[in-house]
Amino acid sequence: MDLRRLTKRFGAVTAVNDVTLTVESGEIVAFLGPNGAGKTTTIDMVLGLARPDAGTVRVYGKQPSEAIARGEVSAVMQTGGLLKDFTVAETLVYTASLYSHARPVAEVLERAGISDIADRRVGKCSGGQQQRLRFAIALLSDPRLLLLDEPTAGMDVEGRREFWAAIRRDAERGRTVMFATHYLDEADAYADRIVLIRQGSIVADGTTAEIKALAAGRIVRATLPDADEAALAALPGVETVELRGDTVLVRTADSDSVARHLLTQTAARDLEITSRNLEEAFIALTGDDASQNPTATAGSQR
Ligand SMILES: Nc1ncnc2c1ncn2[C@@H]1O[C@H](COP(=O)(O)OP(=O)(O)OP(=O)(O)O)[C@@H](O)[C@H]1O
Ligand SMILES: [Mg+2]
Repeated sequence: MDLRRLTKRFGAVTAVNDVTLTVESGEIVAFLGPNGAGKTTTIDMVLGLARPDAGTVRVYGKQPSEAIARGEVSAVMQTGGLLKDFTVAETLVYTASLYSHARPVAEVLERAGISDIADRRVGKCSGGQQQRLRFAIALLSDPRLLLLDEPTAGMDVEGRREFWAAIRRDAERGRTVMFATHYLDEADAYADRIVLIRQGSIVADGTTAEIKALAAGRIVRATLPDADEAALAALPGVETVELRGDTVLVRTADSDSVARHLLTQTAARDLEITSRNLEEAFIALTGDDASQNPTATAGSQR
């Protein structure tokens, strides 16, 4: 999947702003961001459901409509599309009849982990079971790329766990998966790569480990009038140096070096060292003050 300088506006709102993103075959990518970040709009453009105002979408070298017609892309959306009076198996048999080449129903039931509820009426299935049915439907065309838009919203912890177990087992065979989520823990647990989006722009993109490393750093804070910003920035491990009045704030992977320097080479006092957790990093990157954080790009932009 290849997005180049993709932009989508709704009136005065720029929902997606100059997004460039390449997802390689076999990757499991979390598209992580707060409400209104532009996740659904981006996915809609990949599915050909929305037309970009600028930029291009290519899926395996093709336009979205062509990739979908060939069954190379499928999506698991949050709502709609299921008939309550059908059983799970009937739903799949019926949907499979619409395709010229569908995988066997027994196979997709198995992959989605719902063989045991094949004869249950859809109306009696839990939300999580219905989502796994949507997953099974998406597998009928044996797509190379599977897009999921907040597939576990509203599910309990157990439902989420089972859903993701089925997705992961399936993805091990090489299917490419991209899912939108609000949940940092879900991105962390199930994705190989996290793309953080905020106000229509990608603010961080890296392996899960790289995104976590953003959070692994510490913040050293001290009172130091006339701090030498350049000297601090040159210390090992330092990511950013910020001066706020008489306070200096250093984000660093090596807080010992910064503390040692401040206490031995400068007149700094009131030294304080705090660690950032993943949640804080996420908020820093996706919250309103993210524009003030120049270290917001983790790893390589791919
Ligand atoms: N059809 C539309 N008409 C007008 N504005 C829209 C439309 N669809 C989306 N938007 C706006 O575009 C922005 C991005 O919305 P989008 O639905 O892509 O966000 P999202 O990341 O999927 O959010 P959520 O996590 O809430 O699902 C929002 O400001 C939203 O209000
Ligand atoms: Mg959305």
